[in-house]
Amino acid sequence: MKIDVFTLFPQWFEWFHSQRHVTNALALGHELEFLDLRGSTPLGAGQVDDTPYGGGAGMVIRVDVVEAALRARYGPQAVEPSVGHRVVALGAGGRRFDDELATELAGEERLTLLCGRYEGFDERVHEHLATDVVSIGPYVLSGGEAAAMVVCDAVLRKLPGALGHADSALEESFSPALGGAPEYPHYTRPPEWHGHRVPDVLLSGDHGRVREWRLARSRERLRPTRPEIG
Ligand code: ADE
Repeated sequence: MKIDVFTLFPQWFEWFHSQRHVTNALALGHELEFLDLRGSTPLGAGQVDDTPYGGGAGMVIRVDVVEAALRARYGPQAVEPSVGHRVVALGAGGRRFDDELATELAGEERLTLLCGRYEGFDERVHEHLATDVVSIGPYVLSGGEAAAMVVCDAVLRKLPGALGHADSALEESFSPALGGAPEYPHYTRPPEWHGHRVPDVLLSGDHGRVREWRLARSRERLRPTRPEIG
């Protein structure tokens, strides 16, 4: 998989790039690149944004700046009529990011993420350059960078081999293996801490009972938030 992240702050991703599951994914041949929207702007002095028509606070990232960035990366024909793969603009008003969407995106060979700043993108970026607008939650961030890291993190850990332990992603919160429920609780040593004991069943060595107990705890955690599944 090749992921390109367009941002005004590519250096913010240096830390993210060095995380274990990211380096694992890169070692497997996947690619992750961070591209500076200012690097290809057709405007003078590195300008990328402008004041909103109709007035109001803040600045809006220009559609011609995003177009130039996509053309510089994918070729002069890239945006006519589309880049040819999923182009996700991060924005608070978009489709809610969840495990299902992470799995969907992990199945793509190529993925582009567009990080907005300030008041976000000119609406024509959403309408004509992006294939999706995605939000990581019902709150407003100062920009799409943190959201892009969330999306990359959730998508990359789904790629086979990205996690140290192959089973880690199979039976985790919201996975089909748990029927979309949150994951069951985990315990490790010591078996007793200030009088709080690890549930006996986990120390029993009986794999069947352990599995039953885990599924039951997972479903219990579901009820308060999604009673329709529980
Ligand atoms: N940009 C600003 N807020 C955002 C959010 N909640 N999700 C994705 N991108 C955003």
